[in-house]
Amino acid sequence: MAHKISCIELLPLLVLSGLLFPGTVKFALSTGGTASGCFESEREALAKLKGGLTDPLGRLASWVGKDCCKWRGIACSNLTGRVIEINLHNPYVDDNLSGDLKPGQALGGEISPSLLDVKELNYLDLSMNNFGGTKLPGFIGSLQQLRYLNLWCIFRWNDPSESQESFTTALHLPNCLLSKLPLSLPFINITSLEVLDLSNNNFNSTSPWWLFNLTRLVHLDLNSNSLGGELPDEFANLASLQNLDLSLNSYLEGGLPRSLGSLCDLSVLNLSVNRITGEITDFINGLARCNDSKLENLDLSNNGLSGNLPDSLGNLKNLRYLQFLRNSFQGSIPRTIGNMSSLKEFYVPYNRMSGIPESFGQLSTLVAVDLSENLWEGVVTERHLANLSSLTDLALNKLSPNISLAFNIAPGWIPPFKLRYLYIRSCQLGPEFPTWLRNQNDLKTVVLNNAKISGTIPDWFFQLNMQLDELDVAYNQLTGKPPTSLTFIDDQSNVDLSSNFYEGPLPMWSSNVTTLYLRGNRFSGPIPGNFGELMPYLTDLDISRNALNGTIHLSIGNMANLTTLVISDNYLSGEIPQFWSNLSLLYILDMSNNSLSGPITSEVGFLSSLKFFILSNNNLSGKLPSSLQNCSSLYSLDLGENNFSENIPAWIAESIPPLLILRLRSNSFTGKIPPQICRLSNLHIIDLSNNSLSGLIPRCIGNLTGLKVELTDADTEKYEGRLTVVAKGRFVQYDQSILYLVNSLDLSHNLLSGEIPEALTKLVRLWTLNLSMNHLTGRIPFNIGNLGWLETLDLSNNSLSGLLPPSMTALTKLNHLNLSYNDMSGKIPTINQFLTLDDPSIYEGNVGLCGIPLPVSCPGDEKQPQSPDDGGGNSKSEDGGDDLEHIWFFLSIGLGFSIGFWAVCGTLILKKSWRDAYFGYVDRMKNKLIALVAR
Ligand SMILES: *[C@@H]1O[C@H](CO)[C@@H](O)[C@H](O)[C@H]1NC(C)=O
Ligand SMILES: *[C@@H]1O[C@H](CO)[C@@H](O)[C@H](O)[C@H]1NC(C)=O
Ligand SMILES: *[C@@H]1O[C@H](CO)[C@@H](O)[C@H](O)[C@H]1NC(C)=O
Ligand SMILES: *[C@@H]1O[C@H](CO)[C@@H](O)[C@H](O)[C@H]1NC(C)=O
Ligand SMILES: *[C@@H]1O[C@H](CO)[C@@H](O)[C@H](O)[C@H]1NC(C)=O
Ligand SMILES: *[C@@H]1O[C@H](CO)[C@@H](O)[C@H](O)[C@H]1NC(C)=O
Repeated sequence: MAHKISCIELLPLLVLSGLLFPGTVKFALSTGGTASGCFESEREALAKLKGGLTDPLGRLASWVGKDCCKWRGIACSNLTGRVIEINLHNPYVDDNLSGDLKPGQALGGEISPSLLDVKELNYLDLSMNNFGGTKLPGFIGSLQQLRYLNLWCIFRWNDPSESQESFTTALHLPNCLLSKLPLSLPFINITSLEVLDLSNNNFNSTSPWWLFNLTRLVHLDLNSNSLGGELPDEFANLASLQNLDLSLNSYLEGGLPRSLGSLCDLSVLNLSVNRITGEITDFINGLARCNDSKLENLDLSNNGLSGNLPDSLGNLKNLRYLQFLRNSFQGSIPRTIGNMSSLKEFYVPYNRMSGIPESFGQLSTLVAVDLSENLWEGVVTERHLANLSSLTDLALNKLSPNISLAFNIAPGWIPPFKLRYLYIRSCQLGPEFPTWLRNQNDLKTVVLNNAKISGTIPDWFFQLNMQLDELDVAYNQLTGKPPTSLTFIDDQSNVDLSSNFYEGPLPMWSSNVTTLYLRGNRFSGPIPGNFGELMPYLTDLDISRNALNGTIHLSIGNMANLTTLVISDNYLSGEIPQFWSNLSLLYILDMSNNSLSGPITSEVGFLSSLKFFILSNNNLSGKLPSSLQNCSSLYSLDLGENNFSENIPAWIAESIPPLLILRLRSNSFTGKIPPQICRLSNLHIIDLSNNSLSGLIPRCIGNLTGLKVELTDADTEKYEGRLTVVAKGRFVQYDQSILYLVNSLDLSHNLLSGEIPEALTKLVRLWTLNLSMNHLTGRIPFNIGNLGWLETLDLSNNSLSGLLPPSMTALTKLNHLNLSYNDMSGKIPTINQFLTLDDPSIYEGNVGLCGIPLPVSCPGDEKQPQSPDDGGGNSKSEDGGDDLEHIWFFLSIGLGFSIGFWAVCGTLILKKSWRDAYFGYVDRMKNKLIALVAR
């Protein structure tokens, strides 16, 4: 059993890596040195040290005999014969903290003060051992010659009994949690330190003052801590710094101190993954003021920096690596970029930049450039690429799919580069396939997505003999048959031809293609019967929105790695074959909008990883198999628009606790709504409309936590797809940024009777409540005004009676109301939202209702009040300007609102492949830094 260990009480970890040379070599004869062994005093000191240590694997077994210089981990000076180095680093763990740390492999116990007798010791490495709980012995500070001290991740197990039990057990490596960086280090004279590496701890203090006395520091590494606050100007004290790494500190904020810019010896500066804000101009100007700037590597990625990149950037003549991923830079890349004569890598993805200057084409040293996810506009000509003779990786795309940058390259132009990685999305390359790719026979990755290319891909492209790992020409107007002759050399290759006009039978590639998106073309005919045998390693398959017909073959069940299977929106018919048993990794299954028939059989229980199960709009029938209980990870169960019958099983609640979305509309379900569903605490979209459900609305309905509490960011993690809603005949796609906000309860068009439970008014996060077309009686719940988020309320076609509860006027977000065909009476309110709900048809069929907008005035009202438009306009815009209005747009308007069918879109992105794709991409762009996706 694996435990997590925490390194508590850890000591300052001074890793002086890089200073591996021994003390100053003195040309003096040693007096007490012996040819046959070490100094006796030092041998005894080491023996005492050994005596204090526990050594379960006998790593110190060689510490016997006279010549201690020959003991493992000991090194002596060739000149004085004195011990100068003790290296007890735990060899079973690598420095990347990857792999498993086994407690039984670590040294433990006490570090003996006898070490003081080893007077010339300059190198001491006790890292990755189990000395936790003991304080760093103060005497280490007296080792005057010490130049290298490594106490990195000296850990401790919390509980001795655990350490017994887990002796042979692999433990997950700890974070080395050293929580406080001491403000002073009195015990050690470290003013001569040159390299200080305190990375990978959990310091959360602001930078401690003693750091700024280390004026000889050349290399300071504080990455991966939790340092907070603003960067102090005192960094300027460290004038010798060549390398400063403050990346991955969660709380560093504020602007960049100008003083950093005055560190003219800096060659590496890494401030990535912090919360640094403000304009960049002064900072770059400062760096650029150094005569002959030595800066080679500048990483400011994942911060909140803004402003235009200043012209002074061009003065950083030695800069080789510039990484500005995920900030808010805007404007054009400065023209002076052409002067950056050493630049090899230039990364500005995820900013708001718009212009690319022609001088960009002068960067003859540039190897990789990532200009993706910005707001680029204008025209790229061959001049922008003219001298990029070293370029191998090029990424360029717009943040949004509307195209505002076009390539206009002379047809005969031959580029000076040989690209390997070409990623262009949402920039116009067409209408013809770009001829400047003619000599690009080193291409591995070809992404020309949403590039307005039409017609066929020319033959010369296929004759380049490329060894591809990705071909993505989705969202163009390509015609004819797809390019199946290409070679995919990587055994995890991707093909995306979605949204083109490709036709013919469903194409297939070699088994190295593992993600295949063919969505939205005109492929027709059957899915080949041997599809699963020919492409057995597919992980993601999306062939939705084509014209495929015939049946689904058992062979799909051979694709045991499949995580995404989307075959919706075709003309597939017949029963779903029993192919489930191998698909235990399947995460998304969408077969909606076909003509599938027959039951869901009990084998569905093999889909134990399934999260999204979408079979809506087919002719499926029968009852829900009880084995569906094994699909206990489901977030979304959409079986709407079929012919399923019998009861909605009560076990749904016990067996599928994560359920967020339950959509069973338009089937033949009978019986009662099982009250157990009230226990599904995450459920927030419930659509059971258009069935034959009878009985009461469960009184426990008010317990549906998912409709009561505001979701947190953590919950949004659960939404990994994009979903399309059809409402009022319109497709609206919305993704995880909005989906989690949708709270809807639709029980309309059933045979429900009795009263609307008052408890329903506890569902304060409800947006849509549709109970229309039932046999409900009694009054509208008195406290309905509690539903402050309600935007749609449809109670029409029931037998509700009584007055409209006064609290209804508190529903200030309500913009769609239907109370028609009930027995309600009294005066329609004339305040708040009611001023805008002025369509008389929403009240018609209630003989007792009176007042505006009905033509019937109420007894006692002398005259009709003024036209509701007067006050109405205001009230509408009052709440119309906020976000909800925007979101509402996605949900569509209207009575009888329905979630529509859930179509998982082509680029259906599930967590794993999404992250892989993102990180994989970053990786290929040689981005060394962790890019936090979710910031
Ligand atoms: C000492 O001598 C050994 C063997 O000749 C050699 O490998 C080692 O590098 C020398 N060490 C130093 C510090 O010069
Ligand atoms: C600390 O070390 C420096 C350089 O080795 C030396 O000049 C200084 O006297 C030392 N200070 C103390 C307090 O030992
Ligand atoms: C810093 O760490 C200490 C000790 O673990 C903790 O008590 C304190 O709350 C932390 N502060 C922040 C800002 O995380
Ligand atoms: C830094 O050095 C100055 C002068 O050498 C000294 O007065 C001060 O106490 C030192 N600060 C720390 C935190 O060690
Ligand atoms: C598939 O990928 C492997 C490993 O990347 C490669 O060796 C092999 O040649 C590829 N196969 C084909 C048919 O391209
Ligand atoms: C599939 O569609 C084609 C025409 O597009 C038709 O000829 C064929 O009979 C259909 N097959 C099935 C099984 O419906």
